Amino acid sequence: PKRIGILTAGGDCPGLNAAIRGVGKTAIVEYKMEVLGFNAGYSGLINGDYIELKESALSGILTLGGTILGTSREKPYKGKKNSKDVDDKPHKIKENYKKLGLDAIVCIGGNGTMKTANLLAQEGMNVVGIPKTIDNDVWGTDVTFGFDSAVQIATDAIDRLHTTANSHQRVMIIEIMGHHAGWLALYSGLAGGGDIILLPELEYNIRSVCKKIESRFESKKPYSIVVVAEGIDHPKGESAASHVAKAIEMYTDIETRETVLGYIQRGGSPTPMDRILATRYGAFAARCIAEENFGTMVAVKANELTTVPLAEVGGKLRLVEPDFGLIEKARKMGVSFGDEYL
Ligand code: F6P
Repeated sequence: PKRIGILTAGGDCPGLNAAIRGVGKTAIVEYKMEVLGFNAGYSGLINGDYIELKESALSGILTLGGTILGTSREKPYKGKKNSKDVDDKPHKIKENYKKLGLDAIVCIGGNGTMKTANLLAQEGMNVVGIPKTIDNDVWGTDVTFGFDSAVQIATDAIDRLHTTANSHQRVMIIEIMGHHAGWLALYSGLAGGGDIILLPELEYNIRSVCKKIESRFESKKPYSIVVVAEGIDHPKGESAASHVAKAIEMYTDIETRETVLGYIQRGGSPTPMDRILATRYGAFAARCIAEENFGTMVAVKANELTTVPLAEVGGKLRLVEPDFGLIEKARKMGVSFGDEYL
């Protein structure tokens, strides 16, 4: 039988276990493969640290947050070009791949993980990537699992800020994760009825933000919710939320409070949509291995499963386009993106 390895790398997110289960169960039940799970991302592959994943080990994990395999931000190719030097991590990976008799590896992760997956593929290993991240910024797919769960958590947090903001007539700033991408801030900001949404992809200025807040106060809306993506332009050494909060309080004299939502956005059980997406991706990745469709990342385009070459994905970010339809629609409903008076 074919022998395959699975690993989860990069920042964790809800749905990783559903994806591991999707790959593993399909590989075992449908394709009669043997499945190994590597611990702590690429570190497990470098150190030959793995567990055997029998069907029983894949039971009861669908709803669990995090990853049963653990993860790390290990980048085996950092500063390396290839696997020639025996002390190099890529060399160790290649040796373990051979020694363990692997026929393929499934790498579940975000952009960084796909970049490494592509380099492994270029060295002759059979690799299939599965895109995951709460940031939704993996190039080549319309959606990553983890995103829907994070949108739900962030939206719930924004909902809760409305009531306390209203009671105290305050401005509430909430900082949302997403790294360089504004997807999470945009979707949770819209779903949570944010009045102002600041995204890394759109230039903003404080004057526009303050004008919006003041006009709300003048029209008897005594509070405002400002959703700020962590990746917006702000000085190093302070959070994006705190930077914006200080400026608003200084210019408007309206009491302002900040919340940095942080890792709560990555924790806990995946939403049903993420469980299904991760399962679809996992099952499809197993099929790719059976069909020897290697050097690819599974992807969704227009809700259809497909594959894209890893060589095209590595390192590229999928960011929010400034003319993205949802932004235009939100503007027409009075939502500010802090760029009206640039
Ligand atoms: O990629 C997911 C993410 O949570 C980003 O939104 C955030 O910028 C980053 O990871 C945080 O990284 P770390 O887990 O290394 O602190």
